[in-house]
Amino acid sequence: MSAAPAPVNAPPAIHLRGVEKSYGKLAVLRGVDLDVAGGSIVALLGSNGAGKTTLVRIVSTLLTADAGTATVHGFDVSSQPGGVRESISLTGQFAAVDEILTGRENLVMIARLRHLDGPGTVADGLLERFSLTDAGSRAVSTYSGGMRRRLDLAMSLVGDPPVIVLDEPTTGLDPHARIEVWEAIEALAKRGTTVLLTTQHLEEAERLADRIAILHHGRIVVDGTLAEVKRLLPAATVEYVEKQPTLEEVFLAIVGDTGPSQREQP
Ligand SMILES: Nc1ncnc2c1ncn2[C@@H]1O[C@H](COP(=O)(O)OP(=O)(O)O)[C@@H](O)[C@H]1O
Ligand SMILES: [Mg+2]
Repeated sequence: MSAAPAPVNAPPAIHLRGVEKSYGKLAVLRGVDLDVAGGSIVALLGSNGAGKTTLVRIVSTLLTADAGTATVHGFDVSSQPGGVRESISLTGQFAAVDEILTGRENLVMIARLRHLDGPGTVADGLLERFSLTDAGSRAVSTYSGGMRRRLDLAMSLVGDPPVIVLDEPTTGLDPHARIEVWEAIEALAKRGTTVLLTTQHLEEAERLADRIAILHHGRIVVDGTLAEVKRLLPAATVEYVEKQPTLEEVFLAIVGDTGPSQREQP
């Protein structure tokens, strides 16, 4: 859980209303409403194909919605895309790690591209934040999966964007590397960065998120704190289990099946 909740009256860092997106006849997003409070971590949970990547690409201005409004840090994605791009970083998309360069050289290169003062100092600070100081002088090709993902995170933080979007940040990582990345994300949020992360891993949402939003059939069908989401599990089911319901049980109770979650438009 991240430390500092935003002031009650602060505008949300990400604000989505009625966002729709179809690919041809395939209606992927059918009216998405979501708010992400500044300084919080929100997990967007959904099955494979639910539309998570589509949504984060719209939020990051890489894709245009068919309908609805989306603002990031007060900037509208369609009328003020430049403001949005300065406020947000989408990991794995803008950050392209060069395998031949060292971790430090990669960071220095991005800092130069973003015209920051003291690119070496920026790089060293980020290496330290992500426990990569010792590895910083080695070529990225020698890094483990977890180290690579941490460098990817570090690269997307060059210039300190206030909002960061992580699309399935731990997919493909082994359990040890996954925990390393979780710790890096928790450290981010402690510094006040707003994090929207997508995941299919319920325990990832459970571990990291202040709020959990479940995307299903093109809409946010559940949006609340972990405790609120768990309370949605039908009481009769809870009665017969001695432990608290896991998020997975709640998710399956709500989503039902794990098959394709989008429907064609009528
Ligand atoms: N460019 C595209 N053209 C056609 N269909 C797409 C395109 N991108 C994604 N889709 C489809 O839209 C649905 C949602 O995809 P996506 O947003 O990637 O879901 P998720 O990230 O939740 O797995 C999937 O059925 C996918 O096949
Ligand atoms: Mg995806």
